[in-house]
Formats: sequence, structure tokens, C-alpha cells
Amino acid sequence: MNFTFYGHACFGIETGGKKLLFDPFISGNELANGIIDPQKIEADFILASHGHGDHVGDLLDIAKRTGAKVIGAYEIVSWAEKNGITNLHPMNFGPYNFEFGKLRFVPAWHSSCLPDGTYGGNPGGFIVQATERNFYYSGDTCLMLDMQLIPKYAKLDFAILPVGGNFTMDADDALMAAEFIQCDKIIGIHFDTFGYIKIDHDAAKKKFRDAGKELILPKIGETITL
Ligand code: NI
Ligand code: MN
Repeated sequence: MNFTFYGHACFGIETGGKKLLFDPFISGNELANGIIDPQKIEADFILASHGHGDHVGDLLDIAKRTGAKVIGAYEIVSWAEKNGITNLHPMNFGPYNFEFGKLRFVPAWHSSCLPDGTYGGNPGGFIVQATERNFYYSGDTCLMLDMQLIPKYAKLDFAILPVGGNFTMDADDALMAAEFIQCDKIIGIHFDTFGYIKIDHDAAKKKFRDAGKELILPKIGETITL
């Protein structure tokens, strides 16, 4: 299973011949400028954790160009439909079997409105159980006890968690989250994009190492095989 980082909270997962794109936000990210061309990103499915601009900024353009199926909260999918997208799959918290595997939309503690002010429903995260690997992407959230349910659903191979603080968990919180979800391999995202979420990479990685876990802070454009 390949993970490709497109910056901030945007990443692609390739599994079973399907391309999953999470939280597309590239053109508004100065750090991704000149590294990632949003026009070249391929996707079969686009998954939105919540409606904030730093998660859906390029969603409509990429969905229109690729014809990818947009998956997310009912309210986000309705917004995409109003904006001309036709390949849609609305969810609320619960599981559904897609071609790429079993997807469970789970709660996140955050907020969610779309860039035009439309209500975005509840923010969430995703547990993906694919043939190759199981993983959890929390979306933007603080640390929460609900994460303790996740290992009851799936034995995780890796998890993608925000580590930038201020709007979400920081590295200390993400380390506690790693314990809650019983997962030793964490990919950190949602860091460095804005002043509020700049982090000390070495210090964050050391916290995980000292606890016998691994924190990967991917470079924009980097692909990691998991
Ligand atoms: Ni957010
Ligand atoms: Mn965010």
C-alpha cells in the first residue's frame, strides 16, 4: 500500500488498484506550490473528513476533472452536488463496503463548515480495512476517548494523525492517541502549513521513539510504501 503526501492534510493511498485521495487542499498551500500540481493528481475516490477550506479547497476541481466518487458527511456531499459533482456517496457515522474495502466514518472532535459558509455536518475520521492493510485517519480532532473504540473495529497497520497543535492534537496528544488506537506506526500531518502549527520535527519524533513508537513526518511529494 502506497501513501503519498500532498501537503497539510492531503494524501493519497493506493490500494487494490484504487486511488483514494483524502482532504484535497493543494493550490492554497504555499508549501506545496511548485512541488505538487493539483491538475495531475489522479483519484478514483475522494474522501473529505470535514468541510474546512484546508481540507476541501481543491475537492470540486479534482472531482470534476477525475470523475472520482466523493465520499463524506451527507452535508459535504450535498454541497459537492450543488456545485455540479455527480459521482457521490453520502455518509454519516457508520460502516460501508466499497470496492477498495470496508470504510467506517467515525467521529472527530472539531467543527465543520464549508468555504461558502454552508453547514458541513459533523467532522469525522475514517477507518479503512482494505485487503492489503488497515489504517485510521483521524481528520482534524483533539485527543478523545472515543479513539479507544478503534482497535475494537480494526487491528491497525498504521494511522494518520494531525500533530500541529492549536487546531488539532499536537505530538504529545498524538502519542496518547497512538496508545488509544493501539498502533505503533503514525504518520503525522497538519503541521508547518501555517504559523500556528509549526513544530519541532526532531522533538516530535523523539517523543515517539522514546515510547517505542514511530512518527513519520512525510515531505511534500514523498511516497511511502507501507
Ligand atoms: Ni479543520
Ligand atoms: Mn484543518
